Amino acid sequence: MKAMVMNGVGGREMLELVERPEPVAGPGQAVIEIAFAGVNFMDIGVRQGAAWTETPNPKILGVEGVGRVLAVGDGVEAVAPSQRVAWVYAPGSYAERISIPASSLVPVPDAIDDRTAASVMMQGLTASHFATDFYPVQPGDVAFVHAAAGGLGLLLTQIVKLRGGHVIGRVSSQDKVAVAGEAGADHVVVDTEGRFAEEAQRLTRGEGVHVVYDGSGPKTFQGSLDALRRSGTLCWYGPVLGGPGPLDVMRLPKSIKIGYGVFFDHVHTPELLRARSARLFDWITEGKLKVRVGGEYPLAEAAKAHADMESRRTTGKLLLVP
Ligand SMILES: NC(=O)c1ccc[n+]([C@@H]2O[C@H](COP(=O)([O-])OP(=O)(O)OC[C@H]3O[C@@H](n4cnc5c(N)ncnc54)[C@H](OP(=O)(O)O)[C@@H]3O)[C@@H](O)[C@H]2O)c1
Repeated sequence: MKAMVMNGVGGREMLELVERPEPVAGPGQAVIEIAFAGVNFMDIGVRQGAAWTETPNPKILGVEGVGRVLAVGDGVEAVAPSQRVAWVYAPGSYAERISIPASSLVPVPDAIDDRTAASVMMQGLTASHFATDFYPVQPGDVAFVHAAAGGLGLLLTQIVKLRGGHVIGRVSSQDKVAVAGEAGADHVVVDTEGRFAEEAQRLTRGEGVHVVYDGSGPKTFQGSLDALRRSGTLCWYGPVLGGPGPLDVMRLPKSIKIGYGVFFDHVHTPELLRARSARLFDWITEGKLKVRVGGEYPLAEAAKAHADMESRRTTGKLLLVP
């Protein structure tokens, strides 16, 4: 089968489309014919050596996708051949086929198409974790959402709105404003220099926002603190774009709370994974959550998908088609 491997840590030139042996379904596993693989910032981080270093190179990139079960191994009862399934955090998803523990698979309802399912596993589960567990948004709360036209930002904006919150979104260019607005952002700030906090304070009449969701790297960290109200919450989540460095807790202002949000810490059992995925699928079926696919690339063009994501040109979800 064809697979996109990274031959070593580095730039996009490390990616190569190669032939790999067909995967087999060991005990507890299922082999899937992949319809779409999701592209995530995490994949860029893995390529750059920020994560998943324990697996030697060359290794197949990608952790997310949707497809149809081809075969199951001994002891698998949760899924059956020909069933449509989706997954996240399954290394080796930039490929035509993959072998995955059946416990990591989520059944995809008929009402949800493959593109949509592949687009909400990482970003949808993360967004729903942020807005319902990490900081459960209450009606009337004001949330500040960074990269509001990205795959994660668009879903997060909609879920905050679903819960009765208001959204101030930040994007890096004017051409993303309308996209963030379509997802329901009440105000959209265009900024790459960290000046967004002044705008957040102005829009909240000097009170500041209840919560900031920030995965945009070290440059936005101080502004995110400045945008918060007293006792506000900063949900920080951007490991690939870089952390804020050492923090002196005694210097943190306004009784704010800061944490590093990772959905897998809360959605850590197969039962929770299925329940949280089912809730996303329900919201989509009911028309409450819309998915925007910003780009589809042949598997062979994974490097172009990475280049587009890194250049901040993209909106919505990027998918690879094996
Ligand atoms: N902790 C977790 O559980 C978790 C899970 C999923 C994702 N993440 C993190 O969430 C962030 C978004 O990742 P994603 O895969 O979901 O993609 P995404 O939401 O589609 O993010 C792409 C957006 O990131 C912004 N961006 C791109 N390059 C940037 C740069 N060099 N500096 C600052 N912003 C940049 C761009 O928005 P603007 O140009 O408009 O700013 C772009 O729209 C990443 O930091 C990723 O590591 C964390």
